[in-house]
Amino acid sequence: MSTATLKSSGLEGQSAGKTAVCSVAQGDLIYRGYEIHDLAEHATFEQVAYLLLVGEKPTDSQLAEFKKELVSERALPQQVIDYLQAAGPMLKHGSAVPMDVLRTCVSILGNLDDHSQATTHQANLIKSKRLTAKIPTIIGHMQNIIDGREIVPPNAKLDHAANLLYMITGDKPTPEMARVIDVSLILYAEHDFNASTFASRVISATLSDMHGAVTGAIAALKGPLHGGANEAAMDMLREIKHDMGKGVSVENWMSKAFADKRKLMGFGHRVYKNGDHRAPILHKLGRVIAEQKGAEATEWFDIGEQVQKIMLDEKQIFPNVDFPCGMTYFVMGIPIPQYTPIFVASRITGWAAHIMEQHANNRLIRPIAEYVGPPQRRWND
Ligand code: SDX
Repeated sequence: MSTATLKSSGLEGQSAGKTAVCSVAQGDLIYRGYEIHDLAEHATFEQVAYLLLVGEKPTDSQLAEFKKELVSERALPQQVIDYLQAAGPMLKHGSAVPMDVLRTCVSILGNLDDHSQATTHQANLIKSKRLTAKIPTIIGHMQNIIDGREIVPPNAKLDHAANLLYMITGDKPTPEMARVIDVSLILYAEHDFNASTFASRVISATLSDMHGAVTGAIAALKGPLHGGANEAAMDMLREIKHDMGKGVSVENWMSKAFADKRKLMGFGHRVYKNGDHRAPILHKLGRVIAEQKGAEATEWFDIGEQVQKIMLDEKQIFPNVDFPCGMTYFVMGIPIPQYTPIFVASRITGWAAHIMEQHANNRLIRPIAEYVGPPQRRWND
């Protein structure tokens, strides 16, 4: 059987259903009617999380109540903390990476949740808030353990995004840094039927539970063709800079990458062919942080902008949100293996919205396949 026969279309351009959560189109990106530039400029992640989970923009009192709930749910059960400690050697050994450990923590949270088996809207909303609140703490504690330092407990005085950064680094972020990480969470929160969200819908459509669907979504997001690209994009830039140190220009590096038919991480998109609406927003914010940090930081954006120009000139391919994310998180001092877990800390809101939408009006998702295998034959021939 030739692999060419089995090459999948990847369902390119095919609608797999309806959703009221988000619209991803060449012209614009809309979350429940609000356009992404409007949200990035005027909203906070907590407001966007509420919008995705509940369906409407929160009033001041609803937002205050929601934020209070999230803060109250940030702490982790001891069983998860014990697992994180046990995972330290697995992470050190390399047999487990942070996305795997995060995925397991979500499973353990499911085992401990008194609503774990329920698929009602009320139970799902409670679980959505708990996961939204706890995933940043899992990331923070995990990084503290990797760094061999004392665990940094959540800070109730910090907003969601700032607290995430604080727990990872141990330092309270400046207002500018807090806003940039907050906007990055807004940009990452939701993107209609992307691979990980669609995985969560397929799992939910069997009437399986939210923790199971989120576990599957985390596994899907980990892949470098999807969420894992933000880490891979920064690794690629570090490889380019390393080779520049040996006299290889960006142009020559790119020519060799093209000759080797290499997939350049953080570029291209299944839907966006004229650019990812989110990328310029994050690039601009990240560059401001880099310029505050000085020449060593801005050099990453200089190299990145050269790569972008060559990709556009030679291949007519634009960067997606993962490309500026890699550079931005790097200059903010976030360890590269936590980039995709941070993507999870944001996308949990989109996944949860889709899981609730699927459970609320469900039909099993089961497409058909086109058989191209051997013609019928008899076993004893
Ligand atoms: C995310 O779906 C979403 O909404 C996802 C996401 C979200 O918010 O949920 O937006 C987040 O996952 C963004 C994408 C992150 N992935 C990467 O950055 C990995 C690198 N990108 C590529 O692997 C690719 O662009 C995909 C996977 C993103 C999309 O691939 P497609 O639609 O299957 O397109 P393709 O691989 O068939 O490429 C079409 C052509 C090919 O050229 P030919 O072989 O036909 O000559 O474009 C080329 C590809 O080689 N191409 C690239 C490229 N992306 C496409 N060439 C080099 N580098 C790339 N990155």
